[in-house]
Amino acid sequence: MARRKQLYEGKAKILYEGPEPGTVVQYFKDDATAFNNQKKGTITGKGVLNNRISEYLMTRLGEIGVPTHFIRRLNMREQLVKEVEIIPIEVVVRNVAAGSLSKKFAIPEGTPLPRSIIEFYYKNDELGDPMVSEEHITAFNWADPLEIDEIMAMSLRVNDYLSGLFLGVQLRLVDFKLEFGRYYDEEEEEPRIVLADEISPDNCRLWDMATGEKLDKDRFRRDLGGVEEAYQEVARRLGILPESGPRDVQGPSTLQ
Ligand code: C5P
Repeated sequence: MARRKQLYEGKAKILYEGPEPGTVVQYFKDDATAFNNQKKGTITGKGVLNNRISEYLMTRLGEIGVPTHFIRRLNMREQLVKEVEIIPIEVVVRNVAAGSLSKKFAIPEGTPLPRSIIEFYYKNDELGDPMVSEEHITAFNWADPLEIDEIMAMSLRVNDYLSGLFLGVQLRLVDFKLEFGRYYDEEEEEPRIVLADEISPDNCRLWDMATGEKLDKDRFRRDLGGVEEAYQEVARRLGILPESGPRDVQGPSTLQ
């Protein structure tokens, strides 16, 4: 295996320098963390499934005109993406009350929200990703007002599209988290905002429409069991369960 320069190691992914300038390889790990790193574990095969699920969702979003960082999947655990400057904001979109929103405002989980709600969190582990407003974002120069407008419009578009897509496979998209980046194209003067990171059951809440069963990371967070099976079920419903199954213990190297 050719030696590659590691750029960054996060909780669920490792980023390596890509084979061409301006590209990055995202390696999906089986590691899982919750509650700002206080809970740690491994979900066997998660990386393989998330790589495939995120590829599928990013590709579908690209097809409807949402710019994303995704270029192509390289192998079971890796995908090639465009190098972007990550905007240090986590954008959460909610359709149904759950998780921290339910806790904060004492709204029972499962209560439909009168309209979709967008929240922003500042990406900072030491501070525990505090919730912030547009005012903080612009005052501290994390993004400018035009960028925030674009991020909000894109987030709602992603929500509309993914809600419909999941509805088609009997899943309710309760809420999810997105990250965005600035892509500097040589041909263009200004950077372009693109959807980055991943979209998978690690950062979405997905409930079975009929039974309300949770098919996402809450199974890990809340010790509900059947975590791998839940991620597999999401992939199965999307029609993309990897043929050889999610278990590639070694994690193959990048094919180039
Ligand atoms: O915990 P909370 O209810 O705020 O999470 C809202 C949504 O954002 C959930 O789908 C959760 O998976 C996602 N999230 C995330 N990463 C975080 C915080 C939340 O993916 N650091």
